[in-house]
Amino acid sequence: MMKKITKIALTAGVLVTLLYFAYPLKSFAQEPGNNCVTCHADLDETLALPADQRINDIHFTRGIMCVDCHGGDSQIDHQGDFEAAMDPQKGFVGAISRTEIPQFCDRCHGNANYMKSFNPNIHVDQYQRYKTSVHGQKLAEGDENVAVCTDCHAIHQMRAVNDPASQVYPLHVSDTCGKCHSDDARMQDYGIPTDQVELYKSSVHYEFLEERGDLSAPTCNDCHGNHGAAPPGVDNINLVCGVCHISNKDLFIRSPHFQAFQNMDMPACVTCHSNHEILYTGDFMLKPDDGVCWMCHDVDSEQGRTILAITSEIESLNQLGIKADSLISLAELKGMEVSEYKFELLNLTSKLHIARNLVHSFSLEAIREETRTGRELAETIIEGGNGALAEIGIRRTGLLLSLIFIFLVIIGLYLKIKAIPQNERYNES
Ligand code: HEC
Ligand code: HEC
Ligand code: HEC
Ligand code: HEC
Ligand code: HEC
Ligand code: HEC
Ligand code: HEC
Ligand code: HEC
Ligand code: HEC
Repeated sequence: MMKKITKIALTAGVLVTLLYFAYPLKSFAQEPGNNCVTCHADLDETLALPADQRINDIHFTRGIMCVDCHGGDSQIDHQGDFEAAMDPQKGFVGAISRTEIPQFCDRCHGNANYMKSFNPNIHVDQYQRYKTSVHGQKLAEGDENVAVCTDCHAIHQMRAVNDPASQVYPLHVSDTCGKCHSDDARMQDYGIPTDQVELYKSSVHYEFLEERGDLSAPTCNDCHGNHGAAPPGVDNINLVCGVCHISNKDLFIRSPHFQAFQNMDMPACVTCHSNHEILYTGDFMLKPDDGVCWMCHDVDSEQGRTILAITSEIESLNQLGIKADSLISLAELKGMEVSEYKFELLNLTSKLHIARNLVHSFSLEAIREETRTGRELAETIIEGGNGALAEIGIRRTGLLLSLIFIFLVIIGLYLKIKAIPQNERYNES
C-alpha cells in the first residue's frame, strides 16, 4: 500500500517538474489575444524584456497594452510574420527616441478627460512643468543628456509613485537623480558640481529620511520639484524650506534681514545652512570662531555686540538647563519623588528650543523675553532639586537617630535580662 502511494507521488512529482521545464516562464508571459507579448517573450533579451517586465508596470495593471503605446495589431497570428503585426500602416511606432518621449507620454498624461477616468486625483501637467525645467529646456535644444520621463520612471516597469519599489519613491529619488548628477563624465560639459548626492547623504535630512524612515524629511524633488527641476532662486528659497520649517520662515520674513539679504542677492536659509549638506544646528553657530553671523558683522560693531548678547542669553539658559537636569536626575537616582520637576524640565527644554528658533528674528528683546521666563523656570527646578537632595540628608539623619534609639533599647533590654537572677530566669521550663 505505502509503496503504491510513494510511486504515484513520485510519478506526479516528475510529471510536474517536466511540465514546468517544458514551459519555462513562457506560459507566464503569454496573453491570449496579445501576440505582441506572445512573440516578444520568445525573442532574445532586450526584445523580450518588455514582455517580462510588464507585470510590474502600472499601465499593464490598468489594462493598457503594448498597442496602446506602440500601435500595430496585436491580433495577428503568432506564427505570422512580424511585419504584419508591427505595420506602420496600423499606427505602429517602434522604439521612441529620447527627444520624443515627453510628448509621447503627454498624449495620455496631458489628457485630463482620459486620465480622470482612471484616477480623479492624478495631475495632468507633468509635460507642461517639464518644459519649464532645465531638463525640458535643454531637451528642446536637442541635448539628450538631460532627464526625460523614462529616466526617472523607468521603461516598461513604470510603477505607481507610491510603490516602494518605484525609482521615484522618496527613499530612491537621490539615487535616481544621482545616476546622472554624480556622473562626472556625463556632467563635465555643464560646469556644475557633481557632489549634490554625496553632500545630501551626509545631511540631517537624509539621516531622518533614510535611517529613521521619516518620510516628512525632504529628498531632491521636495526642494526641486518633481517635474519643474530647477534650483530654487534666491527669492523663493524661504518658500522651499519654509514649506516645512514654517516658524523659521515667518520669523525670517519679518526680520530686517529679509530685505537686506535680497538686496545683497544672498539666498535666505542657504546662506547660513547650505543647501545639500544641511547639518545639525547649535549655539556654536553664533560664536565668533565658527559662527555664521560674522561673515557680515564685525564683533566690534553695534550689531556685533547684540549678537554676543543673544549668544550669552541662550548659553546661560542652556547652562542652567544642564544644571537643573543633572540635579533632578541625581535626586531621582536616590529614590526621591521628582515627577513634577521632570515635567517642568520638558517645559524648560521647549523654552530653550523657542529661544533658538527666535534667533531667526534676530531680535535680542524677543529672545530675552523667552530666556527670562526660562531662567525663572530653571531656578524653580533647581530649588526643587536642591530641596529634594536636602530632604535626603534630613531623612538620613532621622534614620541614624532611630537606629541609635533601637540599639539603645536592645542594650537596655539585654542589661535588664542580665540583672534577673539565673534560677528565676529558667524556673518556668
Ligand atoms: C511574430 C513576432 C512578433 C510579433 C507578433 C510582434 N513583434 Fe515586435 N518585434 C519582433 C522582432 C523580431 C523585432 C526585432 C526586429 C526589428 O527591429 O525589426 C521586434 C521589434 C519590436 C520593437 C522595436 C522596434 C525598434 O524600432 O527598435 C517594438 C517597439 C515592438 N517590436 C513592438 C511590438 C508590438 C507593439 C507588437 C504588437 C502589436 C509586436 N511588436 C508584435 C517580433 C514580433
Ligand atoms: C506606457 C507605454 C508603453 C507600453 C505600454 C509599452 N511600451 Fe514599449 N516602449 C515604450 C517607450 C517609451 C519606449 C522607448 C524607450 C527608450 O528606448 O528610451 C519603448 C521601447 C520598446 C522596445 C524597444 C526596446 C529597446 O531597447 O530598443 C520594445 C521592443 C518594446 N518597447 C516592446 C513593447 C512590448 C512588447 C510591449 C507590451 C508588452 C510594450 N513595449 C509596451 C513605451 C511603452
Ligand atoms: C527628473 C525626474 C523626473 C522626470 C524627468 C519626470 N518625472 Fe514624473 N515624477 C517624478 C517624481 C519625483 C514624482 C513624484 C513622486 C512622489 O510624489 O513621491 C513624479 C510623479 C509623476 C506622476 C504621478 C502623478 C503626479 O502626481 O504628478 C506622473 C503621472 C508622472 N510623474 C509622469 C511623468 C511624465 C509624463 C514625465 C515626462 C513628461 C515625467 N513624469 C518626467 C520624477 C520625474
Ligand atoms: C496610453 C495612455 C498612456 C501613455 C502613452 C502613458 N501613460 Fe502613464 N499612465 C496611464 C494611465 C491610464 C495610468 C494610470 C493612472 C492611475 O490609475 O493612477 C498611468 C500611470 C502612470 C504612472 C503612475 C502614476 C501614479 O499614480 O503613481 C506613471 C509614473 C506613468 N504613467 C508614467 C508614464 C510615462 C513616463 C509615460 C511615457 C513613457 C507614460 N506614462 C505613457 C496612461 C498612459
Ligand atoms: C538622465 C540624466 C539625469 C537625471 C536622471 C536627472 N538629471 Fe538633472 N540634469 C541633467 C543634465 C544633463 C542637466 C543639465 C545641466 C546644466 O545645464 O547645468 C540637469 C540639470 C538639472 C538641474 C539644473 C541645474 C542648473 O544648471 O541649474 C537641476 C536642479 C536638476 N537637474 C535636478 C535633478 C533632480 C532633482 C533629479 C532627480 C529627481 C535629476 N535632476 C535627474 C541630467 C539628469
Ligand atoms: C533641502 C532642499 C534641497 C534638497 C533636498 C536638494 N537640493 Fe539641490 N539645491 C537646493 C538649493 C536651494 C539649490 C540652489 C543653491 C544656491 O542657490 O546656492 C540647489 C542646487 C542644486 C543644483 C544646481 C547645481 C548646484 O550644485 O548648485 C543641482 C544640480 C541640484 N541642486 C540637484 C540636487 C539633487 C540631485 C538632490 C538630491 C540628491 C538635491 N539637489 C537635493 C536645495 C535642495
Ligand atoms: C519636506 C520638508 C522639509 C523641507 C523642504 C526642508 N526641511 Fe529641513 N528638516 C525637515 C525635517 C523633517 C528635519 C528633521 C527634524 C527636525 O529637526 O525638525 C529637518 C531638519 C533641518 C535642520 C536641522 C535642525 C536641527 O535640529 O538642528 C535644518 C538646519 C534644516 N532642516 C534646514 C532646512 C533648509 C535650510 C531647507 C531648505 C533649503 C530645508 N530644511 C528644507 C524637513 C524639511
Ligand atoms: C543669518 C543666519 C541664518 C539664516 C539666514 C537662517 N538661519 Fe536657521 N539657524 C541659524 C542659527 C545660528 C541657528 C542655531 C541657533 C542656536 O542653536 O543657538 C539656526 C537654527 C535653525 C534650525 C534649528 C532650530 C529650530 O528653529 O528648530 C532650523 C530648523 C533652521 N535654523 C532653519 C532655517 C530656515 C528654514 C531658514 C530660512 C527661512 C533659516 N534657518 C535661516 C542661522 C540662520
Ligand atoms: C549675509 C550677511 C549677513 C549675515 C550672515 C547676518 N547678517 Fe545681520 N544684518 C545684515 C545686514 C545687511 C543688516 C542691516 C539690516 C538693516 O538694518 O536694514 C543686519 C542687521 C542685523 C541686526 C540689527 C537688526 C535691527 O533691528 O536693526 C542684528 C541684531 C543682526 N543683523 C544679527 C545677526 C545675527 C544674529 C546673525 C547670525 C545668526 C546675522 N545677523 C547674520 C547682514 C547679515
